[in-house]
Amino acid sequence: MSHLIQFFKHPIRIASILPSSKSVAKTIAESIDFTIAEHIVELGAGDGPITKILLPYLKPDSKITVIEIDKKLCNDLNKKFQNEIKIGKLEIITGNALELRKYITTADYVINELPTTLLTKQKREQFFTDIKAVTKYACIQLNHSPNAGKQLREHFSDVKAKLVILNFPPAYVYIVRSNATYNSGART
Ligand SMILES: C[S@@+](CC[C@H](N)C(=O)[O-])C[C@H]1O[C@@H](n2cnc3c(N)ncnc32)[C@H](O)[C@@H]1O
Repeated sequence: MSHLIQFFKHPIRIASILPSSKSVAKTIAESIDFTIAEHIVELGAGDGPITKILLPYLKPDSKITVIEIDKKLCNDLNKKFQNEIKIGKLEIITGNALELRKYITTADYVINELPTTLLTKQKREQFFTDIKAVTKYACIQLNHSPNAGKQLREHFSDVKAKLVILNFPPAYVYIVRSNATYNSGART
C-alpha cells in the first residue's frame, strides 16, 4: 500500500504504480548465484517486494544493503524487516543511489530498480560507471521500458534480457555481467 501512496506523491521517482510481482522477484533471484553472493546491494527497493524474496536465499554471513531515497518507504522497510536487520542480514540506507560510491565500495551483485530511463544521459553514464566500479559478478537491472536495454547496450557489451509478463506493467530484467566491456563514450 505504501508504494501506491508514495507513487501518487512522487510519480516520477517511484515510476511504477504497483510494486513488482513475485515473478519479477523470482526472475531476479534466479539470476544470482547465492553460493558466491556475500554482499548484494539493492537500489530503490520500494516497500521491499524483491528484498522479501531474496532474503531467504542468502547463505549465513551474507547480507543485502538497500539504498532507498524515500523516507516513508525506508520507515516501512525498517518495520517490515526488523528481524533481518537485527541479525545483520539486511541494512537499510536512506539515501540517493546516484551517490552510490558514497555508501558502497564493493558488492558481489548490484540490483538496480531505479527508473534509469528517466535520467539525463550524463547522470545515467555516471551511474552505470559507478555501478560497474563496485560490482564483482553482475548488475541486474529492473525496468519497464525496452529502451532501458538499448541504453544498457550503449554502455556494456554483455546484456541479457528476460521479459516478465506476470507483472503490471510487464517488466524487463536485464543481466549485465561484470566482465562485460564498458563502452562509455563509444556512442553519442
Ligand atoms: C520502480 S520503483 C521500484 C520499487 C520496488 N523495487 C519494486 O520493484 O516494486 C523505484 C524505486 O526507486 C526509488 N528511487 C528512485 N530514485 C532513487 C534514488 N535516486 N535513490 C534511491 N532510490 C530511488 C523510488 O523511491 C522507488 O522506491
